Amino acid sequence: MLRAQTIIMNIVAVLLGLILVMPSAAAQDSAGDAMSEINDTRQLVEMPPQVQAMLRQDMRAHLHSLHAIIAALAEQRLEAAADIASQQLGSASMGRHRDSGGGPGRHMPAAMRSIGMRMHAAADALAEDLAAAANTGDQTAAMQQLAQVTAACSACHAAYRIR
Ligand code: HEC
Repeated sequence: MLRAQTIIMNIVAVLLGLILVMPSAAAQDSAGDAMSEINDTRQLVEMPPQVQAMLRQDMRAHLHSLHAIIAALAEQRLEAAADIASQQLGSASMGRHRDSGGGPGRHMPAAMRSIGMRMHAAADALAEDLAAAANTGDQTAAMQQLAQVTAACSACHAAYRIR
């Protein structure tokens, strides 16, 4: 139990990092900070403005889903957490932009898209581990799998930017 709590605290720390770092990066961009441009080694991925807006909206939804999963875990609602992981972050959540004639995915370099696929696959596996944990009471695998999801968020953010 203590171990699970420690892992949850680590995840909360990662999540806070995501929330705190993203807006400050945006603020630097708008300030036109030349140094941050020079030190920024992320690859620029170009996409039309409306597709950029789509990607960013998806991202804010991802962060909200991650929050909802962690909040459900904190209340020991494992089945609810499994449903959110499966439906909102898993492969079932893909293809939302198919009707619009193409979402952000088709503008991504192959390596970037594969990190995205890894994130969805990790969320599918998380959903399974959470459902199993609801039966066995052992959350160890689910916690490790949750870290695989955030690892994919983090890997993509470290490597790519759209502006
Ligand atoms: C395949 C790559 C990729 C994955 C995986 C990914 N992101 Fe992103 N995310 C991006 C890119 C690119 C941006 C835009 C960065 C920029 O502004 O240049 C972004 C931006 C964001 C933003 C800022 C949105 C805004 O309004 O500007 C948030 C929040 C975010 N991501 C959360 C997440 C979370 C949480 C996950 C994992 C559950 C995740 N992302 C997974 C590529 C990714």
